[in-house]
Amino acid sequence: MALKKLVAGNWKMHGLSSDLDEVRVIAAAAKDYPGVDVALCVPAILIERAARAVPGFAIGGQDVHHAEKGPHTGCTSARMLLDAGASLTIVGHSERRDAQRESDVEVKAKTQSALSVGLNVILCVGESLEARERGAALDTVSAQLDGSLPDTVDDKAELAIAYEPIWAIGTGKIPTIDEIRDMHAAIRARLRDRYAVAGAGVRILYGGSVKASNAAEIFAIADVDGALVGGASLKAADFIPIVAAAS
Ligand code: PGA
Repeated sequence: MALKKLVAGNWKMHGLSSDLDEVRVIAAAAKDYPGVDVALCVPAILIERAARAVPGFAIGGQDVHHAEKGPHTGCTSARMLLDAGASLTIVGHSERRDAQRESDVEVKAKTQSALSVGLNVILCVGESLEARERGAALDTVSAQLDGSLPDTVDDKAELAIAYEPIWAIGTGKIPTIDEIRDMHAAIRARLRDRYAVAGAGVRILYGGSVKASNAAEIFAIADVDGALVGGASLKAADFIPIVAAAS
Protein backbone atom coordinates (compact mmCIF):
# COMPACT_ATOMS: atom_id res chain seq x y z
CA MET A 1 0.00 0.00 0.00
CA ALA A 2 1.39 3.41 -0.95
CA LEU A 3 2.12 5.68 1.98
CA LYS A 4 0.90 9.28 2.04
CA LYS A 5 3.70 11.40 0.61
CA LEU A 6 5.64 13.87 2.71
CA VAL A 7 7.27 16.85 1.01
CA ALA A 8 9.52 18.71 3.42
CA GLY A 9 11.48 21.85 2.67
CA ASN A 10 14.90 22.37 4.20
CA TRP A 11 15.63 26.08 4.29
CA LYS A 12 19.16 25.51 5.65
CA MET A 13 20.70 28.87 6.60
CA HIS A 14 18.16 30.94 4.73
CA GLY A 15 15.28 32.92 6.20
CA LEU A 16 14.68 36.22 7.97
CA SER A 17 11.54 37.86 9.32
CA SER A 18 10.98 39.23 5.86
CA ASP A 19 10.64 35.67 4.58
CA LEU A 20 7.68 34.82 6.82
CA ASP A 21 5.38 35.96 4.04
CA GLU A 22 6.82 33.20 1.86
CA VAL A 23 6.09 30.71 4.67
CA ARG A 24 2.50 31.99 4.71
CA VAL A 25 2.16 31.64 0.95
CA ILE A 26 3.53 28.10 1.02
CA ALA A 27 1.29 27.04 3.93
CA ALA A 28 -1.80 28.52 2.26
CA ALA A 29 -1.04 26.86 -1.08
CA ALA A 30 -0.30 23.51 0.58
CA LYS A 31 -3.94 23.40 1.75
CA ASP A 32 -4.91 22.69 -1.85
CA TYR A 33 -3.13 19.33 -1.55
CA PRO A 34 -4.65 17.54 1.45
CA GLY A 35 -3.37 14.24 0.08
CA VAL A 36 0.22 15.32 0.76
CA ASP A 37 1.90 16.14 4.09
CA VAL A 38 3.92 19.33 3.69
CA ALA A 39 6.47 20.77 6.11
CA LEU A 40 9.13 23.46 6.22
CA CYS A 41 12.28 23.07 8.30
CA VAL A 42 13.53 26.56 8.99
CA PRO A 43 16.48 27.98 10.95
CA ALA A 44 16.01 27.43 14.69
CA ILE A 45 15.66 31.12 15.40
CA LEU A 46 12.77 31.42 12.93
CA ILE A 47 10.77 28.42 14.19
CA GLU A 48 8.65 30.22 16.73
CA ARG A 49 7.72 33.07 14.40
CA ALA A 50 7.05 30.69 11.50
CA ALA A 51 4.88 28.43 13.67
CA ARG A 52 2.86 31.43 14.88
CA ALA A 53 2.49 32.70 11.32
CA VAL A 54 0.98 29.45 10.03
CA PRO A 55 -0.96 27.65 12.78
CA GLY A 56 -1.63 24.04 11.91
CA PHE A 57 1.11 23.87 9.28
CA ALA A 58 4.14 21.69 10.09
CA ILE A 59 7.23 23.72 10.94
CA GLY A 60 10.42 21.88 11.79
CA GLY A 61 13.98 22.32 12.94
CA GLN A 62 17.10 21.23 11.05
CA ASP A 63 19.02 19.69 13.92
CA VAL A 64 18.60 18.87 17.59
CA HIS A 65 20.95 18.13 20.46
CA HIS A 66 20.70 14.65 21.97
CA ALA A 67 20.70 15.81 25.59
CA GLU A 68 17.61 16.95 27.44
CA LYS A 69 19.40 20.02 28.78
CA GLY A 70 22.77 21.07 30.12
CA PRO A 71 26.04 22.79 29.33
CA HIS A 72 25.86 22.72 25.53
CA THR A 73 26.48 26.25 24.34
CA GLY A 74 24.61 27.18 21.21
CA CYS A 75 22.60 23.96 21.03
CA THR A 76 18.86 23.33 20.96
CA SER A 77 17.11 20.45 22.71
CA ALA A 78 14.13 18.51 21.42
CA ARG A 79 11.86 20.04 24.06
CA MET A 80 13.01 23.51 23.04
CA LEU A 81 12.06 22.80 19.43
CA LEU A 82 8.65 21.53 20.53
CA ASP A 83 8.22 24.48 22.86
CA ALA A 84 8.93 26.85 19.98
CA GLY A 85 6.19 25.22 17.92
CA ALA A 86 8.10 22.69 15.82
CA SER A 87 6.50 19.33 15.13
CA LEU A 88 9.48 17.74 13.41
CA THR A 89 13.20 17.99 12.93
CA ILE A 90 15.80 16.91 10.42
CA VAL A 91 18.62 14.86 11.94
CA GLY A 92 21.94 13.75 10.45
CA HIS A 93 21.89 15.93 7.35
CA SER A 94 25.12 15.36 5.39
CA GLU A 95 26.05 19.01 5.80
CA ARG A 96 26.10 18.41 9.56
CA ARG A 97 27.65 14.95 9.37
CA ASP A 98 30.41 16.62 7.37
CA ALA A 99 30.91 20.12 8.80
CA GLN A 100 30.03 19.22 12.42
CA ARG A 101 31.58 15.75 12.23
CA GLU A 102 28.39 14.12 13.44
CA SER A 103 28.77 10.37 13.83
CA ASP A 104 26.10 7.70 13.41
CA VAL A 105 26.11 7.22 17.18
CA GLU A 106 25.34 10.89 17.69
CA VAL A 107 22.70 10.91 14.98
CA LYS A 108 21.01 7.94 16.65
CA ALA A 109 21.06 9.68 20.03
CA LYS A 110 19.55 12.82 18.51
CA THR A 111 16.87 10.79 16.77
CA GLN A 112 15.91 8.95 19.93
CA SER A 113 15.86 12.15 21.93
CA ALA A 114 13.54 13.86 19.43
CA LEU A 115 11.18 10.89 19.06
CA SER A 116 10.96 10.48 22.83
CA VAL A 117 9.43 13.93 23.28
CA GLY A 118 7.02 13.48 20.37
CA LEU A 119 8.96 15.30 17.67
CA ASN A 120 8.81 13.64 14.24
CA VAL A 121 12.21 12.99 12.71
CA ILE A 122 13.58 13.01 9.18
CA LEU A 123 16.81 11.03 9.49
CA CYS A 124 19.19 11.62 6.57
CA VAL A 125 21.56 9.12 5.02
CA GLY A 126 23.46 9.17 1.75
CA GLU A 127 26.72 8.28 0.10
CA SER A 128 29.55 10.43 -1.24
CA LEU A 129 30.43 10.54 -4.92
CA GLU A 130 33.56 8.57 -4.14
CA ALA A 131 31.51 5.79 -2.51
CA ARG A 132 29.04 5.76 -5.41
CA GLU A 133 31.85 5.52 -7.97
CA ARG A 134 33.54 2.61 -6.29
CA GLY A 135 30.24 0.73 -6.08
CA ALA A 136 29.86 1.16 -2.32
CA ALA A 137 26.68 3.25 -2.20
CA LEU A 138 24.43 0.51 -0.80
CA ASP A 139 27.00 -0.58 1.77
CA THR A 140 27.59 3.00 2.90
CA VAL A 141 23.91 3.71 3.40
CA SER A 142 23.31 0.35 5.09
CA ALA A 143 26.10 1.08 7.54
CA GLN A 144 24.66 4.54 8.26
CA LEU A 145 21.26 2.99 8.91
CA ASP A 146 22.73 0.31 11.17
CA GLY A 147 24.49 2.98 13.18
CA SER A 148 21.87 5.68 13.31
CA LEU A 149 18.41 4.12 13.29
CA PRO A 150 16.61 4.33 16.64
CA ASP A 151 16.16 1.07 18.55
CA THR A 152 12.39 1.20 18.25
CA VAL A 153 9.63 3.10 16.50
CA ASP A 154 6.20 3.66 18.00
CA ASP A 155 3.10 5.80 17.58
CA LYS A 156 4.34 8.66 19.72
CA ALA A 157 6.24 10.32 16.88
CA GLU A 158 7.03 9.46 13.30
CA LEU A 159 10.39 8.42 11.93
CA ALA A 160 11.07 9.09 8.24
CA ILE A 161 14.29 8.43 6.36
CA ALA A 162 15.68 10.78 3.73
CA TYR A 163 18.02 9.23 1.20
CA GLU A 164 20.19 12.10 0.04
CA PRO A 165 23.22 11.20 -2.07
CA ILE A 166 25.72 13.88 -1.08
CA TRP A 167 26.78 14.47 -4.68
CA ALA A 168 23.19 15.29 -5.65
CA ILE A 169 22.66 17.98 -3.01
CA GLY A 170 22.58 21.43 -4.54
CA THR A 171 24.34 20.24 -7.68
CA GLY A 172 21.48 19.74 -10.11
CA LYS A 173 22.58 16.10 -10.54
CA ILE A 174 20.33 13.24 -9.53
CA PRO A 175 20.82 9.47 -9.55
CA THR A 176 19.15 7.43 -12.25
CA ILE A 177 15.65 6.11 -11.63
CA ASP A 178 17.12 2.63 -11.18
CA GLU A 179 19.67 3.87 -8.66
CA ILE A 180 16.96 5.57 -6.60
CA ARG A 181 14.70 2.50 -6.83
CA ASP A 182 17.46 0.14 -5.74
CA MET A 183 18.50 2.31 -2.82
CA HIS A 184 14.95 2.86 -1.57
CA ALA A 185 14.25 -0.89 -1.84
CA ALA A 186 17.40 -1.61 0.17
CA ILE A 187 16.40 0.94 2.82
CA ARG A 188 12.90 -0.57 2.99
CA ALA A 189 14.38 -4.04 3.48
CA ARG A 190 16.58 -2.73 6.28
CA LEU A 191 13.60 -1.07 7.96
CA ARG A 192 11.56 -4.28 7.78
CA ASP A 193 14.44 -6.24 9.27
CA ARG A 194 14.73 -3.76 12.06
CA TYR A 195 11.10 -2.96 12.88
CA ALA A 196 9.14 -5.85 11.32
CA VAL A 197 5.71 -4.68 10.10
CA ALA A 198 6.27 -1.16 11.44
CA GLY A 199 9.16 -0.88 9.00
CA ALA A 200 6.68 -0.89 6.13
CA GLY A 201 5.13 2.32 7.47
CA VAL A 202 8.32 4.38 7.71
CA ARG A 203 8.34 6.93 4.90
CA ILE A 204 11.47 7.03 2.76
CA LEU A 205 12.05 10.42 1.15
CA TYR A 206 14.42 11.17 -1.67
CA GLY A 207 16.50 14.35 -1.43
CA GLY A 208 19.04 16.05 -3.65
CA SER A 209 18.23 18.50 -6.46
CA VAL A 210 14.49 17.78 -6.44
CA LYS A 211 12.72 20.34 -8.63
CA ALA A 212 9.34 20.77 -10.27
CA SER A 213 10.80 19.36 -13.49
CA ASN A 214 11.95 16.02 -12.01
CA ALA A 215 9.58 15.55 -9.06
CA ALA A 216 6.83 13.57 -10.82
CA GLU A 217 9.34 11.08 -12.18
CA ILE A 218 10.96 10.63 -8.77
CA PHE A 219 7.63 10.27 -6.93
CA ALA A 220 6.59 7.52 -9.33
CA ILE A 221 9.43 5.27 -8.14
CA ALA A 222 8.48 2.43 -5.77
CA ASP A 223 9.18 3.21 -2.10
CA VAL A 224 9.73 6.91 -2.73
CA ASP A 225 7.32 8.31 -0.15
CA GLY A 226 8.15 11.96 -0.58
CA ALA A 227 11.04 14.39 -0.84
CA LEU A 228 13.35 16.54 1.22
CA VAL A 229 13.84 19.69 -0.82
CA GLY A 230 16.54 22.30 -0.28
CA GLY A 231 16.97 25.11 -2.79
CA ALA A 232 13.59 24.61 -4.45
CA SER A 233 11.75 25.01 -1.12
CA LEU A 234 12.66 28.65 -0.58
CA LYS A 235 10.01 30.05 -2.91
CA ALA A 236 6.40 28.92 -3.16
CA ALA A 237 6.63 29.19 -6.94
CA ASP A 238 9.29 26.45 -6.97
CA PHE A 239 8.09 24.39 -4.02
CA ILE A 240 4.35 24.11 -4.56
CA PRO A 241 4.68 22.46 -8.00
CA ILE A 242 6.71 19.74 -6.23
CA VAL A 243 3.88 19.30 -3.70
CA ALA A 244 1.46 19.16 -6.62
CA ALA A 245 3.57 16.45 -8.26
CA ALA A 246 3.29 14.39 -5.07
CA SER A 247 -0.50 14.63 -4.95
P1 PGA B 1 18.80 20.53 -2.60
O1 PGA B 1 19.09 20.14 -1.07
O2 PGA B 1 17.36 20.24 -2.87
O3 PGA B 1 19.12 21.99 -2.68
O4 PGA B 1 19.71 19.69 -3.44
C1 PGA B 1 18.50 19.02 -0.49
C2 PGA B 1 18.93 18.88 0.95
O5 PGA B 1 20.11 19.13 1.25
O6 PGA B 1 18.13 18.52 1.83
